[in-house]
Amino acid sequence: MNGMIYTTFANPVYHINLLETHKKYIFDFKKFAMSKYKKDKGVVKSNRDGYQSNFLSNNQLCEEFLNSIKEHICDYISKIGVKIPFSFKLYEPWINVSQSRAYNVSHCHGKQDFSFVFYIQVPKNSGNLVFDSPVLHHKTNMIQHQSFPFLNSETFIIYPKEGDLVIFPSYMPHSVEINKSKKFRISLASNLDIVHAV
Ligand SMILES: [Fe+2]
Repeated sequence: MNGMIYTTFANPVYHINLLETHKKYIFDFKKFAMSKYKKDKGVVKSNRDGYQSNFLSNNQLCEEFLNSIKEHICDYISKIGVKIPFSFKLYEPWINVSQSRAYNVSHCHGKQDFSFVFYIQVPKNSGNLVFDSPVLHHKTNMIQHQSFPFLNSETFIIYPKEGDLVIFPSYMPHSVEINKSKKFRISLASNLDIVHAV
């Protein structure tokens, strides 16, 4: 049989490791994150037993870091075919410090166009980033599958490493697995909107 299957709509996720170029940010963010964790109460959103800071405004380290990843955001946005010229508005980031047994329930950052996470400290077995299919029907049908290749997968998993930057559409539901290590997993996350010239 030679019937075609079109894979139709895509949910593009960008993944790059910046360990070589971002060692200084990783070092500085580790200290910064632990001081926030100790001093500030933080907020509870998707985090369960883990720490999420308030939005980090007027912070020089964050501003320098955000500037340093703009080229990668542009790379992603260009690759998915957004009309040129474009600019984008970056929102205030937040820090996540997830201790042993902490996890994040499934959620999405639906108000903005794209979201990203930068991994600052990733102990072994400290929890992967799990994207769920945004097609609700994938979760509610009764079809049984023999295997889970690309055409019928319900989840897409990123196995993060220190220095990884992951950018994804904000509508994509995602969760973080339980931190099964004894150490902290630390990351920084935020959102952005595309701005087209009028
Ligand atoms: Fe999130």
